[in-house]
Amino acid sequence: MRAIRVHEFGEDPQVDEIDPPNSPARGELLVEVTAVGVGAWDLHVAEGRLAGILPSGDRPFTMGAELCGRVRAVGVGVEGFAVGDRIMANPGIIGAWADRVLVRASSCGRAPRSASDAEAAATPVRGLTAFQALERLHPPAGSTLLIIGAGGAVGRAAVEMALGRRVHVIAVAGGEELEPLLELGAEVAVDYRTEWKSRLEAAAPDGVETALDLVGGESLALGLDLVRDGGRVATTISGADATEAPRDISIGLIAMRSTTSALGAIADRIDAGDLSTRVLRTYPFEEVAVALDALRTRDRAPGQIVLSGRNG
Ligand SMILES: NC(=O)c1ccc[n+]([C@@H]2O[C@H](COP(=O)([O-])OP(=O)(O)OC[C@H]3O[C@@H](n4cnc5c(N)ncnc54)[C@H](OP(=O)(O)O)[C@@H]3O)[C@@H](O)[C@H]2O)c1
Repeated sequence: MRAIRVHEFGEDPQVDEIDPPNSPARGELLVEVTAVGVGAWDLHVAEGRLAGILPSGDRPFTMGAELCGRVRAVGVGVEGFAVGDRIMANPGIIGAWADRVLVRASSCGRAPRSASDAEAAATPVRGLTAFQALERLHPPAGSTLLIIGAGGAVGRAAVEMALGRRVHVIAVAGGEELEPLLELGAEVAVDYRTEWKSRLEAAAPDGVETALDLVGGESLALGLDLVRDGGRVATTISGADATEAPRDISIGLIAMRSTTSALGAIADRIDAGDLSTRVLRTYPFEEVAVALDALRTRDRAPGQIVLSGRNG
């Protein structure tokens, strides 16, 4: 079977023929993969920026953090899944981009009925991260949430989930992403390349209680000025949680975790029409390098990039 593997950090991943996995161990599912999602996190992995947190230092390793597929075998002790089920999963930060994979059943959830396999494959990481950030921040209905880096995969999912909680959103994103964010329902959308601080202060003169940071660095520092005393900030950027925060503001790191119940809640939102699943482009496994380049230089149209599997 094929697996897309990193041999050296900084080089294009390769499509390798490798032996298929064995039967599932206790608690695992054997999944025949139909499509996999490609995201900003994959660039960090391929380029070696996340080498310190990969489960093993060994190379080559199979890339990929999200997939959709069909269950082909069920390990001992697994409840709630059966052969033939259509699932989506985040097996971890790597390990998803292969024709067949073994995944802990507790990291799998039902694929949304209303979504294609490509759309479901592009859902777990952005959905789980946004979901867990909102759970952590718990912005009250009627309050305003600041999202820094709102135009990307996680940011757009967070905007939609915040709106579903009747929370107002101030979005900071790239200029080309502002209009789509306003169409999505953000109250204010500000370009991070311009004088965004003055625009934010005008949009929220009393500050905000909660902020979600997807960028870190200078942008997080500027955003912190807008957070009220005692406010709460969540960041997805490891290390950014160590940023010195003024005025009793807490900054917590979101380390995304895949659970059957969180994936189920996300699938419910998609089926209810409350979370969009737009796929911008689909490539075959063999064009993984082109797909990663498309992500690097993306044309800023909202939507996800997907690799379609042999079984898709
Ligand atoms: N900790 C976790 O568990 C976890 C989980 C998922 C993702 N992540 C990480 O979270 C980050 C966001 O993921 P994503 O998939 O949403 O990324 P993405 O699709 O690349 O989106 C990033 C967004 O931030 C904007 N941006 C870039 N530089 C900025 C700046 N200086 N100030 C404000 N906004 C800026 C981008 O605009 P442009 O288009 O103009 O560049 C874009 O809107 C990534 O670093 C990813 O690896 C972490």
